[in-house]
Amino acid sequence: MAKREVITYGHPVLRQVAKPVGKVDERIRAIIQDMMEALAEEEGIGLAAPQIGISERIVIIDLSKSGQQTKMALLNPEIIFSSKDSVPYEEGCLSIPEVWGTVYRPSFIKVKAKTTTGKSIVIEADEILARVLQHEIDHLNGKLFLDYLSEEDKAKNAEKISALLEENRKKLGHVAL
Ligand code: NI
Repeated sequence: MAKREVITYGHPVLRQVAKPVGKVDERIRAIIQDMMEALAEEEGIGLAAPQIGISERIVIIDLSKSGQQTKMALLNPEIIFSSKDSVPYEEGCLSIPEVWGTVYRPSFIKVKAKTTTGKSIVIEADEILARVLQHEIDHLNGKLFLDYLSEEDKAKNAEKISALLEENRKKLGHVAL
């Protein structure tokens, strides 16, 4: 089992704006390792550090579940360009299990980030990579894909969402919507 559980909707950490990462040291490498383990266990394609309870600007991507080789860990990722279009896609989130809904996002972006070796890079992304990067960077800003759903999609998922909130209310005594 992964050392850290994936935190679910209602936990306040998911609504916090995460802190920038400074120096890449042992502590940061250990967080990335924990994130990799959690992502592999959940069979996801992307994870942001707040999802394991760490409010720092770290994102990992592993597209092997969608048949691609792309695997990366990004520190302080920032979208520096977005195409003007807006493309629909059915999104889900490991922190909001069993909830799905259509989210419109730009189809092409450029992301500036630091790698784990401290190098500054710019990634040009389209298709699934653009999608997952935007979703994960949103997590660093306390934003969730739920925020974009239509009333119809929200209604469709209402029961699952309330069940998650109820679970966290019991566990934490309070929730953040
Ligand atoms: Ni997510």
